[in-house]
Parts: sequence; structure tokens; C-alpha cells
Amino acid sequence: MAQLGTDKAIAKAFLEAGNVVGIPTETVYGLAGNALNPDAVLTIFRVKNRPAFDPLIVHTDSFDKLDQFVTDIPDRAYQLAKAFWPGPLTLLLPRRDLIPDLVTAGLPSVAVRIPNHPLTLDLLRSLDFPLAAPSANPFGYISPTTAQHVADQLGDQVPYILDGGPAKVGIESTIIGFDNQEATVFRLGGMALEQIEAIIGPVSVRTHSTSNPKAPGMLSSHYAPRKPLILLPSGASPEPGPRVGALAFREPFGGIRAEQQRILSPTGDLTEAAKNLFAHLRALDNLPVDVIYAEPLPNEGLGWAMNDRLRRASVQE
Ligand code: TXA
Ligand code: MG
Repeated sequence: MAQLGTDKAIAKAFLEAGNVVGIPTETVYGLAGNALNPDAVLTIFRVKNRPAFDPLIVHTDSFDKLDQFVTDIPDRAYQLAKAFWPGPLTLLLPRRDLIPDLVTAGLPSVAVRIPNHPLTLDLLRSLDFPLAAPSANPFGYISPTTAQHVADQLGDQVPYILDGGPAKVGIESTIIGFDNQEATVFRLGGMALEQIEAIIGPVSVRTHSTSNPKAPGMLSSHYAPRKPLILLPSGASPEPGPRVGALAFREPFGGIRAEQQRILSPTGDLTEAAKNLFAHLRALDNLPVDVIYAEPLPNEGLGWAMNDRLRRASVQE
């Protein structure tokens, strides 16, 4: 069983020996391994039960180290990095050969970010390699926002989980790529579109793909609980019943037991809602309910990314 703790020296020792460990970030917990060691990267895929076509994000602690991994940093990427790193933003940049094929699933670009968590930044500074880290959940399930979430699902396969408290942002990083100077968002996430556009102007958003997705966060079914989740149309209420669960934005729904409901933010704060989203979904999934209804969030700020997660987590035609 995994040990939980706050000792980064233990995490460092495991990582240097080629093992994988759970690490905190401001978005979600990651399952980290030496990004330059193909065996460690293989272990990540195996532990997560993740298909090899789904590339990993490389985490580092300083902008100056980027040159080791990428051949070019377009102007807009540079502006975004300066504005938002460390933070919930991942940049797709042309990779150097130092990055193993396995990390990028053979793609010519590598996904990189500097996460904003003091413990993980300290850990990264103490290592002489970057960390490949997907979200620390079995492939397709809800992402973990606490060390305990990681232990619950991957505890028997990971020797150590660095406990940095609950994730402050709560949804994965926004992923953005640059083609011929055109910026495209491939995954909506913890960095709001409005903030990105305030720095580099209008970007296109391409987060849907049915086959051969560029980013499997783009797969239509992802982030899913075990119980069927029904995303309500805006303004609609769930079918009442004794074995119904509900995820509400500000106020509970009528006709459903209070203990079978979770409220994302009583004050209607989207930042607070994002922070609670995955933990509340997990809690509902573990209750004696047969179905979970979710209320859509307003389409602004982090609401876009949350609606995206709920859509993919939901039962679809
Ligand atoms: O917030 C986050 O990004 C978290 C924390 C741990 O940093 N990580 C995370 O990783 O969400 P993961 O593996 O669950 O999602 C990474 C996404 C996947 O959808 C993957 O397909 C995409 O990033 N991705 C990675 N490398 C890519 C590349 N070279 N080109 C396109 N998409 C890429
Ligand atoms: Mg993930």
C-alpha cells in the first residue's frame, strides 16, 4: 500500500530509482515518473491502464529549462508562459529528441507545463530530469484532487504519494498549441479562455475529436463516474427519487435527499465550484444512488471547462 507523506526526499529517491509517485499540483494530482526514462514512462502507462496513443505532459520548474526539451518557443507561447507560469496552462511545443517517443506518443510536439504547487516545485528543482505526469486516476475515471483519492485507486501500485493538500484549482490544465502562429486550445481547463485571450488575442478552440484525437482529453467519454451521470439541460430539474443523486451549482434540488446532493458553490463562485467538482462527483459516485444528475454551469470563466468535463462524464446517445 502506498505511503502518504510530505517528505520530498522520499519522493525524490523513488523517482531517481525509476519508480512512479503521486504528486500534488494546483490542478489535479499527477502520477509522476522520470520523463527521460522510458521504463519509468512505461510504468506510468501500466499503472494508469492508459493506451499508448495518449501522450503525457512533461512538468518542469523553470522556463530556462525548456530549451532542453523543445526546439522553438513561438512568441505567443512565450507571452503565455511569462503571464501564467507556474500555473494551470500546458503548451504544445516542438520537441527535442531527448524526450522519448513514448512520452509524446510519437507526435512532433511535447506538452509542457510548470505546475504551481510549492512542494512539487521544490521536488522538481531537486531533480535533474523533468517529470512526466498524467492525472493520477485509472484511465477514463474522475481525476484526483486529494492524496487520498490517489491512494484509493492506485494505492496498491504506487510506493509513495506526496501529500500537498487538496488541489486549489481542481480541474486539469488548459492545453494550447501553436501552428503557423495560430493558437488553438485543445483542452479547456483551469486557465480560463478569457485570461488567455487577454494576453494573445482570439484563439480557436478545438476540443472535439471522435477518432485519433490529438488530445485524448478530447475523447467523448472521459472523466466518468461508475454511476450513469445525466447532464441536465439548463434550468431543468432531476427526476425525483430515493436513489437519485444530484450535483447542483448553488442550491439543492427539491425531491432529492439532502445527503444525496452536493453543492458546487453556494455563492455561485465558479472558482470554488471548479475546486469542488471532482471531489463531489467522486462522493456522489460512492453513495447508494443509481443515477447522478448534474446541473450545467454558466458558460463563462471556468464554467466552460466544467461543462466540458460534465459532458464527457455523462451518458451520451
Ligand atoms: O493539469 C494537468 O494537466 C494534469 C496535472 C497532473 O499536470 N495532468 C493531466 O494529464 O491532466 P493527463 O495525461 O491526464 O492529460 C494530458 C492531456 C491528454 O489529453 C493528452 O492527450 C494531452 O494532454 N497531450 C499530451 N501531450 C500531447 C501532445 N504532444 N499533443 C497533444 N496533446 C497532448
Ligand atoms: Mg487525465
